[in-house]
Amino acid sequence: MLKNLKLGMKLNLILLIVLFVTVGVNGLILSNVLKKNAEQEVTSKALVLIETMDSVRDYTRLQIDPELSDRLEQEDQFLPQTVPGYSAREVFEYLRKREAYNDYFYKEATLNPTNLRDKTDKFETKVVKKFRRNPDLKTQHGFRSLQSGDLFYVARPITIKKESCLRCHGRPETAPKSQLATYGSENGFGWKLNEIVGAQTISVPSGRVLADARKLQFVVIGVLTAGFFLAVIALNLFLKFAVVSPIKEMAAWSREVSTGNLNADYEHQANDEIGTLASSVNRLKVSMEMAINMLKQNLPK
Ligand code: HEC
Repeated sequence: MLKNLKLGMKLNLILLIVLFVTVGVNGLILSNVLKKNAEQEVTSKALVLIETMDSVRDYTRLQIDPELSDRLEQEDQFLPQTVPGYSAREVFEYLRKREAYNDYFYKEATLNPTNLRDKTDKFETKVVKKFRRNPDLKTQHGFRSLQSGDLFYVARPITIKKESCLRCHGRPETAPKSQLATYGSENGFGWKLNEIVGAQTISVPSGRVLADARKLQFVVIGVLTAGFFLAVIALNLFLKFAVVSPIKEMAAWSREVSTGNLNADYEHQANDEIGTLASSVNRLKVSMEMAINMLKQNLPK
């Protein structure tokens, strides 16, 4: 079947196969690279947010807690505003009110939390345990599935680095009375200095992470395909004017010559391979003319 195809068709068939292979392979590589890229972008943004939350925690510990700590002992009502974890969560809730961040989630997922809302789920427990096993591990990130949809998460360990934390998380006896009244003495105690008690996690719906990557992938594949089609058009035009048309002309000319019309030379301007062929064919014609003339002279009159 291939034998019957014209040069142009053969060229286009080859180009089409190359296009499919190139777009396919590029699509695969690109989708991986762009996905990694998008993950990295969200990860670095999430890490900045976690650093910001840490700063909010420091601010609460260094500036708010000293102002209010006496009231914690004297008053019945606990003031959560003195708690670093509380202020971080509250600040994040304000951040979530901004459109760019309203699908970001922040959680101080803790194995034994004071507020049970912060308790690690099964997945987060594994993340925290991995931090405990690998003290040098600074972050973990990846995708996880929830009933509400798939999430991309970035996690950092929460380590108890300050003695001051143990006032409320060490033993219930030393904790402020109002804290015990509000949260009880069961949860969030027994933490130790330098222990990893949980993981700060920021999560984003994974659709959001992948959507930008997919958009970029379509653009790149689109530009690649468009460039390829331009090249196909250019190659087809070139093939037509530089190869197919001269060959057709040469074929018509040869037909003329074969019917005895030996006058015209075959004209071809370019010095390319077709030009070489044209001069050979012209030489052939001259030789043929000479041979015919010799034959004519030698024929018995
Ligand atoms: C004044 C007492 C107090 C101090 C000091 C304090 N915490 Fe807490 N912490 C709490 C309370 C109460 C909560 C629960 C707040 C809430 O309802 O969100 C909490 C919550 C947390 C949480 C979220 C998980 C949980 O237990 O619900 C983490 C993590 C945490 N604290 C770590 C620390 C660290 C680290 C320090 C030292 C820098 C510290 N805390 C100092 C009282 C305190």
